[in-house]
Amino acid sequence: MMETKKRLVFAADHAGYLLKNALIAVFKERGYEITDVGVNSGESCDYPIYAEKACNLVVAGEADLAILCCGTGIGMSIAANKVKGIRAACCSDIFSAKYTRLHNDANALCLGARVVGEGLAEELATVFVETGYEGIDGGKHARRVGLITEIENKNK
Ligand code: RB5
Repeated sequence: MMETKKRLVFAADHAGYLLKNALIAVFKERGYEITDVGVNSGESCDYPIYAEKACNLVVAGEADLAILCCGTGIGMSIAANKVKGIRAACCSDIFSAKYTRLHNDANALCLGARVVGEGLAEELATVFVETGYEGIDGGKHARRVGLITEIENKNK
């Protein structure tokens, strides 16, 4: 059975926008539905604004996964993880990008444009987007992700 392609939303700050645009070109070419919430310039800006814009689309069900680029990927991930329902992972190795989908059902990938090159970022994003969640039918990973949601609900 053909799997439906995930809908992707991209965001970046001034440090990540060139990487974001390079990744958008790759995923567009592959036929993915893309939303770009900015930025599109190298002028200094504040990454939490763009992390929130992208993550809001994911929790609203208008996108399946967010890909967020800043200098380190860390600011984007901290901001994204404040949005209820977002599980953001900052990755610079393929194993983590794969297992954060399999085990954590991560729905946002954060990339550091000053940490990884375009080639590695493309591989990281590809693995992240193409890997499914192992806990879809319950089991230990679903229980653990459920516990994360419980923490989130206690801290509103
Ligand atoms: C911007 O200089 C930089 O701080 C930002 O892109 C990001 O790396 C923050 O975590």
